[in-house]
Amino acid sequence: MKKVDDFRFQLGQNEYVPIVLGGMGVNISTPKLAQAIASLGGIGHVSDAMLPAVIDQKFGTSFVKNKLQRYRDNLKNPDKSIVKFDLGELAEATRLHISSAMDTKKGMGAIFVNCMEKLTMGNPLETLKVRLDAAMDAGIDGITLSAGLHLRTFSLIQNHRRFLDVKLGIIVSSLRALQLFLRKNAKIGRLPDYVIVEGPLAGGHLGFGAGDWRKHDLLVIVKEILAFLAGENLKIPIIPAGGIFSGSECVHFLEMGCSAVQVATRFSIAQESGVPDKVKQEYFKAREEDIVVNTVSPTGYPMRMLQRSPAIGASNRPNCEAFGYLLDEAGHCSYIDAYHKINDKAASNKERLPVNERTCLCTHMRNFKVWTCGQNTYRLRETACQLEDGTWEQPSAEHIFRDYQFSTNYEVHPPPQGEK
Ligand SMILES: Cc1cc2nc3c(=O)[nH]c(=O)nc-3n(C[C@H](O)[C@H](O)[C@H](O)COP(=O)(O)O)c2cc1C
Repeated sequence: MKKVDDFRFQLGQNEYVPIVLGGMGVNISTPKLAQAIASLGGIGHVSDAMLPAVIDQKFGTSFVKNKLQRYRDNLKNPDKSIVKFDLGELAEATRLHISSAMDTKKGMGAIFVNCMEKLTMGNPLETLKVRLDAAMDAGIDGITLSAGLHLRTFSLIQNHRRFLDVKLGIIVSSLRALQLFLRKNAKIGRLPDYVIVEGPLAGGHLGFGAGDWRKHDLLVIVKEILAFLAGENLKIPIIPAGGIFSGSECVHFLEMGCSAVQVATRFSIAQESGVPDKVKQEYFKAREEDIVVNTVSPTGYPMRMLQRSPAIGASNRPNCEAFGYLLDEAGHCSYIDAYHKINDKAASNKERLPVNERTCLCTHMRNFKVWTCGQNTYRLRETACQLEDGTWEQPSAEHIFRDYQFSTNYEVHPPPQGEK
């Protein structure tokens, strides 16, 4: 019976173990986690979501404070059109984060950055260009463009000195999205180096409707895409993602002609993941019925999370002056509308009323109160040992990686108890 280790992922001049750690924002896939994957010969993603806030927590910088200072007078104003990011600060935060991953990277693997394009940051194109340029300046090996794929992103960076050497990939959830991207991108003369095909069981935001994700199947989408590429004689590596929990499931995709697999949920509870320990225990405790796909994210994309997430039904005053990662060019975010619709009417009350329609994603992602997760989170307890006090021991990234790499028979192995 074959195992993942019988395959290799050839990407350009390099060869990898065909396991890709998916990007998990906000700083769930930490530089440390991505480095662990790279040191074992795979590809690890960091995420560039909300980096000024992440870097402040990590290095004690003051990006958030500085921004809040600039726009403090606007805090009570529902019109956020004046709120903009300082592009120099954004570049610096991005460089600091990517350098912290790249400068001490070891092993034959690679570190890529997941760049969620739906983070429009009040100035979609310029902030995106700054994020991408700064990541390349800091030496990132590859960039994966996700959620909200702009069809012209490659053209934004085509004059960067690393445009031809950095690996560039996209995430799609349908053949149609891939065809659209290839058509629009044709003028640039640079194909994506790889395409991640994300199915309906993934964590984070989904590329399907909240009501219809159940009707889609990763295997079917992957087959359609492989057949299309073969028909067009296009050789682009395909990397399926979403719900792949064991080594044998990876092998199934690799035998079909996929080049690697992308996985995330099993690593969300790794020792190196950025999820706080208490929240990791919530993931371990989750039952299948606790995992929901809802529309509380102001991005407009459905998002998968634990139903118990404290962010659901919370009532924070919009905090765009400090954060504001989801503001569109006109300074609009659908959470602001949802908040004012509920709370302006209740202005005479001292208490704020719960906002159920949307959540303040920036504030709650930063504070780990949106417990976003993959559909297989309820299986995480199979991957760890339970201690006498009822809590679960976090496996190391190395253990999880090797379990994907070497296990057969659809087996999933927890590490021996007490293993560090
Ligand atoms: C906790 C969590 C957070 C995630 N955050 C992001 C994200 O910020 N951007 C993104 O493109 N994908 C995100 N994803 C999706 C993963 O990168 C990956 O493609 C997918 O979850 C793989 O499926 P699996 O989790 O079933 O292994 C996230 C997944 C999880 C589990």
